[in-house]
Amino acid sequence: MLVELTDIDYEYLGGSPGAARALSGVSLGIESGEFVALVGKTGSGKSTLTQIMAGILEPSTGSVRIEGRDLWGDKRRKLQGRASVGLVMQQPERQLFETTVADDVAFWPKNAGVDGGAIEQLVARALERVGLAPDTYRHRSPFSLSGGEMRKVAIAGVLVMEPRLLLLDEPTVGLDPHGRRELLEYITGLNRDGTTIVMVTHDIDMVAELADRVLVIEEGRLAADSTPGALFSHRSGQSEELPSASMIARELARGGFAIEDEPITLDELADSIIRTSEKASV
Ligand SMILES: Nc1ncnc2c1ncn2[C@@H]1O[C@H](COP(=O)(O)OP(=O)(O)OP(=O)(O)O)[C@@H](O)[C@H]1O
Ligand SMILES: [Mg+2]
Repeated sequence: MLVELTDIDYEYLGGSPGAARALSGVSLGIESGEFVALVGKTGSGKSTLTQIMAGILEPSTGSVRIEGRDLWGDKRRKLQGRASVGLVMQQPERQLFETTVADDVAFWPKNAGVDGGAIEQLVARALERVGLAPDTYRHRSPFSLSGGEMRKVAIAGVLVMEPRLLLLDEPTVGLDPHGRRELLEYITGLNRDGTTIVMVTHDIDMVAELADRVLVIEEGRLAADSTPGALFSHRSGQSEELPSASMIARELARGGFAIEDEPITLDELADSIIRTSEKASV
């Protein structure tokens, strides 16, 4: 098991009058190689959960194990566990702090003691991977960039660590359609090559297309742990929470063109329509 959370509670401002319970009794495991979507309403606790998994927030109770090591139980090993988990936060500007893009992306390798020449190469490669030309961006201040560019720099700064688990908190928000597609293709590629992905998103189509597992958080609790196929067929009553393909299938059925299976992606929908028409014309 790559990550194992057991009975996690988290309270912001614990012990003070403004204390706010964000997570209650969350237990879950993430296996190596999975692509997991983390969904739930605004304020349900998704970002808190990603920060718990990344070892940035210490749970009020419960344990976090990364590759079997207790992240908070054994302080000496803390850093080792963290190095295999990379988090791209919801507000990327919160994780940018150096004066140039190159220094920002170099932060992790520098701290890990990688030598200068090798760092330069790692930084250039990470920038290229997120679609930022190193020569154009290297010397820019991260704070002079657009929101989408900042997000890309934040992602480059995490990719440079080559994390085994990549946590992405709403990574496509603020990107144009081209940037969004490029980023998603890139993330899918990383997953194919063995990087485990946990992605927070409100985009149900993205969940249907990409994830092999969906975790639903409701008011700080794990409300469902399922596959997209099972989740969206169970929810067929709540049309606003269905992927576009399922909605189109439903509209077609309403118009008298009933599709046998329950497509959740556009590819599946197209296949189903073709199959259904072929049967009808026999
Ligand atoms: N720094 C903080 N101090 C106090 N309470 C906080 C803090 N950050 C989050 N919370 C509270 O914790 C709960 C969970 O917040 P969290 O940011 O994890 O939700 P989320 O599911 O990521 O929401 P969104 O979809 O809007 O990003 C919310 O009730 C929020 O108000
Ligand atoms: Mg959030």
